[in-house]
Amino acid sequence: MTSAWVAKEVIGDCILYEGDMRAVLPELAEKADLCATDPPYRLTSGGRGQTMGGKFHPDRYDNKGDLMQVLPWAKMPAPIFAALKEDADAYVMTNSKHVARSQIAFEAGGFKHHELLTWDKGAVTRQPFYLRCQEFTHYLWKGRARHIADGGAKTRFACAAPKNHWHPTAKPTSLMALYVLQSSDLGGLVLDPFAGSAATLIAAAAFGRRAIGVELKPRFFDLACEAVHAAYADGFAQVHAAWDRDRLANNIRGLAHAA
Ligand SMILES: C[S@@+](CC[C@H](N)C(=O)[O-])C[C@H]1O[C@@H](n2cnc3c(N)ncnc32)[C@H](O)[C@@H]1O
Repeated sequence: MTSAWVAKEVIGDCILYEGDMRAVLPELAEKADLCATDPPYRLTSGGRGQTMGGKFHPDRYDNKGDLMQVLPWAKMPAPIFAALKEDADAYVMTNSKHVARSQIAFEAGGFKHHELLTWDKGAVTRQPFYLRCQEFTHYLWKGRARHIADGGAKTRFACAAPKNHWHPTAKPTSLMALYVLQSSDLGGLVLDPFAGSAATLIAAAAFGRRAIGVELKPRFFDLACEAVHAAYADGFAQVHAAWDRDRLANNIRGLAHAA
């Protein structure tokens, strides 16, 4: 019998799988309390003749939309829905061009839509039609809606993106910590089916949750395992310090440092 995953690594309260989430999720032994994820989608920016920097520099990126391996939105919700407990929240990140189609796909997959959240990155992506400085997160639920821990938090959260990171779309751990702390309990199981740099897993473990991540690309999987090891070795000091800074900057008082 062939395994649903290529590799599996257990690090503290985190389990990382290398493989395709569509194959791995149905095999998980325990249903998750929360999904917080940033799926891969086609990224185009800049338009013809525009020169962009960073990961969109023409030497690194052909503007055809495939910064990483992508999956159609319609293929994502079913395995995620089935991998969650009866009553659970899901946070699914997207950008302005994909907001509508991702919402349609996840609602068609059984999720209900609470709210569209905004991540203000501060820094801008240079492009000809407005300077893009934000990304979006669908805040969804399955089953009975649960209350978030701090209902006083605004729908906009501002914090800087990681700089010069090895993953092209690494998210800040503080952003993922917000979702984890709002919608899961101590000891709960957090799922990120598109783990990338493991930001969600690291945020979950830093605040006393267990986490499962799935990553398709072998290099990202290896580096994500290293990142989780490093976060444990550091006692999550950097994650906690960043969260305390960012939550105060966003006037979030109800979600204390939980570790
Ligand atoms: C937008 S990135 C996630 C970034 C992550 N939130 C972080 O902070 O680093 C999406 C990730 O999903 C991975 N991926 C793409 N298709 C996948 C699949 N079918 N199953 C699992 N992972 C997949 C990509 O390799 C990529 O690392």
